[in-house]
Amino acid sequence: MTCKILVVYHSQSGNTRKMAEKTAEGVRSIVDATVFLKMASESTLEDLLACDGLVIGSPEYFGYMAGMVKDFFDRTYHEVRGRKETFKKPYAVFISAGNDGTGALNHIERICLGYQFKKVLAPVIAKGEVDDAILAQCEELGKTIAAGCREGIY
Ligand SMILES: Cc1cc2nc3c(=O)[nH]c(=O)nc-3n(C[C@H](O)[C@H](O)[C@H](O)COP(=O)(O)O)c2cc1C
Repeated sequence: MTCKILVVYHSQSGNTRKMAEKTAEGVRSIVDATVFLKMASESTLEDLLACDGLVIGSPEYFGYMAGMVKDFFDRTYHEVRGRKETFKKPYAVFISAGNDGTGALNHIERICLGYQFKKVLAPVIAKGEVDDAILAQCEELGKTIAAGCREGIY
């Protein structure tokens, strides 16, 4: 089986981007997996419908997700609500925060409940520097969701 994973993220100063790129690297390391690595501002309804699983990455800004990640949800929610292509779609989240991250995570997870996506992995949360240990977790996240989707285990 092949699988397509959408890694959709926003980043202003580059921390979340590093996490997104490493997650995408993890996906690419899985045979028969394809990654679509896209900024949230450039991501579309078609991207969401076409993927077999998605990973959402956001910095925490003011105790919330980045505005552009929210905008992606705002632009797609109405269209996908109740559609079989997104029902129980496997998803995972990574967050880059200065010192917290729970606000962004909780709001994203709440919205994903509304979409009826299926959370399949624990989130990766970077507090402060995005170091090698965090990047290794992101790579593992990408590998695991891609392998799981390919095998149809979710
Ligand atoms: C406008 C703004 C608001 C922020 N608010 C929070 C916050 O509420 N909690 C927190 O832990 N970090 C906060 N931070 C720190 C960022 O989450 C952190 O620097 C993150 O790594 C930025 O990711 P990026 O480089 O991908 O933009 C804020 C940063 C900015 C610029």
